[in-house]
Amino acid sequence: MSFTPDSALDLLFPAELISLEVKKALHSDLHIRPLASTDYRRGHLPVLSVLTVVSDPGEAAWVQQFHAQRACPRTYYSIVVIDKASDRIVGVGTVLIERKFLRGLGSVGHIEDIAVDKQQQGKKIGLRIIHALTYISELNGCYKTILNCSNDNIPFYEKCGYEKKENEMAKYA
Ligand code: ACO
Repeated sequence: MSFTPDSALDLLFPAELISLEVKKALHSDLHIRPLASTDYRRGHLPVLSVLTVVSDPGEAAWVQQFHAQRACPRTYYSIVVIDKASDRIVGVGTVLIERKFLRGLGSVGHIEDIAVDKQQQGKKIGLRIIHALTYISELNGCYKTILNCSNDNIPFYEKCGYEKKENEMAKYA
């Protein structure tokens, strides 16, 4: 498949929210943009499966989820990094904006589901994704941006400018 420009895509949020600084820093073989309604076909789920178990719901259900997220404006910001030569996704990440009642009705950005294709790891794609998501969080006025990660990934997030704070608790259903 040949590279599809942003203008030909149905995007989750406006492409102008992607940091120009991050775009400039990205390798010229790559492109960073919001998730698009046709990204199921560009390997969105296979890249996510680098992170955890992903069961394929089929394209129609995937597209329904895309539209359900877009129906919540200024909340879901999923971005993808595309290998231009193949028009395939090589990296993904999301920031969710939570609107609070505290801190003068402040907002918090929650970074979720960061994954880079195994063949493409170690090329600063993950770092660019985190910088782009942090930029979106701060554009939304978030007073902090937070995430949970394994001990193994702490050095990666430190390289992205994050520091360890508190602990994570979980209860799986
Ligand atoms: N330990 C130590 N350093 C690391 C690690 C690690 N596990 N991972 C990356 N780094 C360092 C790199 O060496 C690089 O350092 P440098 O600037 O000195 O060269 C810097 O961090 C940036 O690394 P990138 O090349 O941007 O990392 P990459 O593109 O490979 O992405 C990621 C990192 C996202 C963790 C990737 O390896 C991946 O997809 N792993 C599997 C899925 C996963 O664990 N995702 C994160 C889950 S947490 C969450 O989603 C909130």
